[in-house]
Amino acid sequence: MNEIAPMEQFSEKPVVEACARAPVGLLAELTHRCPLQCPYCSNPLELDRVNSELTTEQWQDVMRQAADLGILQIHLSGGEPTVRKDLEDIVEVAAKAGLYTNLITAGVTLTRDRLKRLKELGLDHVQLSIQDVDDANAEKISAYKNGLAKKREVGKWVRELEMPLTINAPIHRLNIENLPNIIDFAVEMGAGRIEVANIQYYAWALKNRAALMPTRAQVLKSAEIVEEAKQRLKGVMVFDFVVPDYYAKTPKPCMGGWGRGVMNVTPQGRVLPCHASESVPGLVFDNVKDRRLADIWLNGQAFQKYRGTSWMKEPCKSCPRAELDFGGCRCQAMAFTGDAANTDPACKLSPYHEAFVAAAERESAEATPPPFVYRRMSPTKATPAE
Ligand code: SF4
Ligand code: FES
Repeated sequence: MNEIAPMEQFSEKPVVEACARAPVGLLAELTHRCPLQCPYCSNPLELDRVNSELTTEQWQDVMRQAADLGILQIHLSGGEPTVRKDLEDIVEVAAKAGLYTNLITAGVTLTRDRLKRLKELGLDHVQLSIQDVDDANAEKISAYKNGLAKKREVGKWVRELEMPLTINAPIHRLNIENLPNIIDFAVEMGAGRIEVANIQYYAWALKNRAALMPTRAQVLKSAEIVEEAKQRLKGVMVFDFVVPDYYAKTPKPCMGGWGRGVMNVTPQGRVLPCHASESVPGLVFDNVKDRRLADIWLNGQAFQKYRGTSWMKEPCKSCPRAELDFGGCRCQAMAFTGDAANTDPACKLSPYHEAFVAAAERESAEATPPPFVYRRMSPTKATPAE
């Protein structure tokens, strides 16, 4: 078992002791500000305000601490990370600290000069998200005009600057039929990788689940399309296919297991085991302003709570898959069953599984989906999804 034991008084000891069990990646949510309003955003419903964001120096310190802890990759995300004017200062420090830096961006606020500068400062990789490859549909999903044309431009710049590119394509009811064209778009952009990411229903996506849920037939078809494209594009583009939980029989090991491989820092500096973990009551989230990152990773209450397998109840407790999927997703267990220590309802052994699948089947069968609740600071207005 790979359970991580707490190290008392860790902060008194040399950081190198932590390296053997350090997280691989850190998701740095630099800001929750974003010009787009995608209804499946993984940010929490309560968005952090600009005046509460960490300062440049505080983010730079997070980068140095991450490298000291042994983290390899920094994913600079948001919201939209490029709306921070100090992105260059943060990238520079991260790169100097030896971290592999990945910019996760919607692209619409980037310029070629800025991208070039970021590359010069050490940015290693760009992950460009798209909503669809149909202009009108992309506009409807993001509530942002002419975004697709801008993304094409950004893709071209990334290629010209000889940087590796991943296209991130969240897939749902409104764009699943366009999947072949989305794959073609990624090839045309020169992407080395595509994430065909069926929506995972937390935060805004959970709020909009009935508007986003595809049918089982659509999902099965999309899996066939990905399989065929994978074979055809071997050596050209790598596929990451995130399957939709609701039609699964066994859950995914969410986050690779709680507190095992990744950590997340919010715009205000709260350190989370996963981006949605603030939806789980009873967790204490330490802040980088008060406690060292390494200490939080090893000893923080929120990280310890569901780390390993000792917290499990039946049926996970005695299941042979317990150390393969770690009981699935805690946030989904919380959202659907009311207890984060329950088995993920995506598992066929969960007593909630039948109701879980039924919800997806019922919602995806509705001829007219409900209006989107767009991701806004104050989500008061709903707009028809179709
Ligand atoms: Fe995974 Fe728990 Fe289901 Fe077993 S019972 S397959 S450990 S979620
Ligand atoms: Fe939080 Fe799965 S989204 S554990």
